[in-house]
Amino acid sequence: MTKEYNLTIDGQKIIAQEGTSILDAALENDIFIPHLCHHPDLKPEGACRLCGVEIDGGRMVMSCLSTVGEGIDVKTDSSEIRQARTIAMELLIADHHMDCLACAAANDCALLDISAYLGIQPDRLERLRPSDKGLPIDESNPFFQFDPNKCVVCGICVRTCNEIVGLGALGFINRGFKTVIGTFGNKPFTESICESCGECVVRCPVGALAPKTPKFAAREVQTTCVYCGVGCGIYLGVAGDKIVNVRADRERPTNEGSLCVKGRYGFNFINHPDRLTKPLIKKDGEFVEAEWDEALELIASKFVQSKGDKFAALASAKCTNEENYLIQKFTRAVMETNTVDHCARL
Ligand code: FES
Repeated sequence: MTKEYNLTIDGQKIIAQEGTSILDAALENDIFIPHLCHHPDLKPEGACRLCGVEIDGGRMVMSCLSTVGEGIDVKTDSSEIRQARTIAMELLIADHHMDCLACAAANDCALLDISAYLGIQPDRLERLRPSDKGLPIDESNPFFQFDPNKCVVCGICVRTCNEIVGLGALGFINRGFKTVIGTFGNKPFTESICESCGECVVRCPVGALAPKTPKFAAREVQTTCVYCGVGCGIYLGVAGDKIVNVRADRERPTNEGSLCVKGRYGFNFINHPDRLTKPLIKKDGEFVEAEWDEALELIASKFVQSKGDKFAALASAKCTNEENYLIQKFTRAVMETNTVDHCARL
């Protein structure tokens, strides 16, 4: 059984499981501690230095890296903590391209939220700005772009690609003030091993990694991705009668908030004008639109004529296990042949 500890955060009595970070224990109990490089899906890194707290009346520790202990007394605010956070934050802002109005993050930005929380005026820091970094924006990927001028080097994208995707397409390049995130050899994304899954994009806390065409949905529909039989949970963002974005369902056990490139970005076919929405029947050598009843009757009559060795079925990886089971059962029991196969890939 997991051990539980009693501790106090800002005078509030809390019970937390062994191994829980102080930051997670605080957030789970609605006590806010500023944090930029922490993400619940990833191992802590301690890169941004914003989450400092005082333990037992003095020792300052990074709350994302320190775990709870029996009887500890945590303070999340004091003049020393505020000073340390402000310095860390001002250094981040001074090194960040603050064109917020034109930013693809569209104010959904942890840097803006935390600077507002700390009462920092980004404009006041212009004098600290070393100069515009002027690093080229990588627009090679069809779905997202990477603007290193906006990167705060929190490492969330690097850890995401290592820990969640298992690919390691991203890493830290250079050292010190010149450190940037990039692919191996700092090549464009499309010339790297990146698979365009967008896992790093959805976790980027600022606008450095951002979708190319962010479209805002009026409502969301919870459903299951149709690309393969895995059955990943997704939310379709809908505006009018069009799907404009997709996000992963964190509660679905099959994917726990992750998606592949097809599930996340491959939705344009749904509204594509070339998409068939009615069955076609070949008449006099030409395909002509038909009603569903007519098409289904034609198929049934052809099935009757084709029983036995004239018939073969090819099932699809896009079907669920249950649908594939039905196809093989139908082929064997009704069509009286064992000629049934499966594409086994997309
Ligand atoms: Fe703890 Fe960044 S969240 S150091």
